[in-house]
Amino acid sequence: MPKVLKEKILRSEALARSIYRMTVESEYISQTARPGQFVNLKCSDGIEPVLRRPISICRVNREQKTFELVFQVRGRGTELLSRKKAGDSVDILGPLGNPFEISAHYKKIAVVGGGIGIFPLLFILDEYGKHREDNLKAFDLSAFIGFRDKDSIVLKDEFEKACDTCRISTEDGSAGCRGFVTGLLEEELSRKHYDIIYTCGPTAMMKKVAETAGLYKVPCQVSLEQRMGCGIGACLVCACKTKYGDGWEYSHVCKDGPVFWCDRVIFDEQVEDFG
Ligand SMILES: Cc1cc2nc3c(=O)[nH]c(=O)nc-3n(C[C@H](O)[C@H](O)[C@H](O)COP(=O)(O)OP(=O)(O)OC[C@H]3O[C@@H](n4cnc5c(N)ncnc54)[C@H](O)[C@@H]3O)c2cc1C
Ligand code: FES
Repeated sequence: MPKVLKEKILRSEALARSIYRMTVESEYISQTARPGQFVNLKCSDGIEPVLRRPISICRVNREQKTFELVFQVRGRGTELLSRKKAGDSVDILGPLGNPFEISAHYKKIAVVGGGIGIFPLLFILDEYGKHREDNLKAFDLSAFIGFRDKDSIVLKDEFEKACDTCRISTEDGSAGCRGFVTGLLEEELSRKHYDIIYTCGPTAMMKKVAETAGLYKVPCQVSLEQRMGCGIGACLVCACKTKYGDGWEYSHVCKDGPVFWCDRVIFDEQVEDFG
């Protein structure tokens, strides 16, 4: 059940050029949020910008009652958010959206992300990691994360700690493997089976991940990004076409998503995004 909350920022730090991490104290979000969910933030105490901005929950710390957001400055809203400091408060609505399906039934798990799409994937790895500690279940966790160049790489250490295998690609080859992260996934799938793939990032990347998953018959969930207004299914701003039987229907990314099984997504109808 989402709530409007005014919470305290404990830390705000720049991770890379125009990428910031904000650590927020929130008993409610830290205890109730699930991987794939997001919060809708008011970016300033004034009137402008009127609309809240959606940011995925990157991690929660249930013991310390905190959660983390990592965001890229894109425009006015995220610029204002990046100016907030430790001790300031932030007005949030959340947790929102349909989360990723996390199940002990999946043993071999891959997350595939590109650009700002990598942030919600860390929460998935943490959640499986926690299951592993609690139940001694043998999960095999792999991450494939792609960036434009070496200066855009963020959260590398966090990903490496959270999984068993972490492979990085950069488009210009300045770090990790040269090329797209989808190439790394294809290479891996040709020799190893996964029980599920979770992906988030640019539409073209997710489309390719979904096609590759389909080829190897691996279930795949994608997290879509759309411009949003209310974040709760009331304003229709985030409507997108999804498959329904032999035809299609409108879904709300904020309420029915942002996470969908890939076979419901009509990738060519998705607005271009901001990987
Ligand atoms: C469910 C969800 C989760 C998200 N999680 C994250 C996250 O974890 N980290 C992160 O950095 N960003 C995330 N985003 C994107 C973030 O919400 C936008 O970057 C932010 O709203 C931009 O606001 P702004 O005022 O800074 O920019 P604006 O001035 O509103 O826009 C700047 C530019 O970004 C484009 N844009 C803005 N919002 C969207 C959108 N939703 N889809 C496509 N293009 C858009 C605009 O067309 C414009 O070109 C998420 C978006 C969604 C829908
Ligand atoms: S953002 Fe208003 S319906 Fe989705």
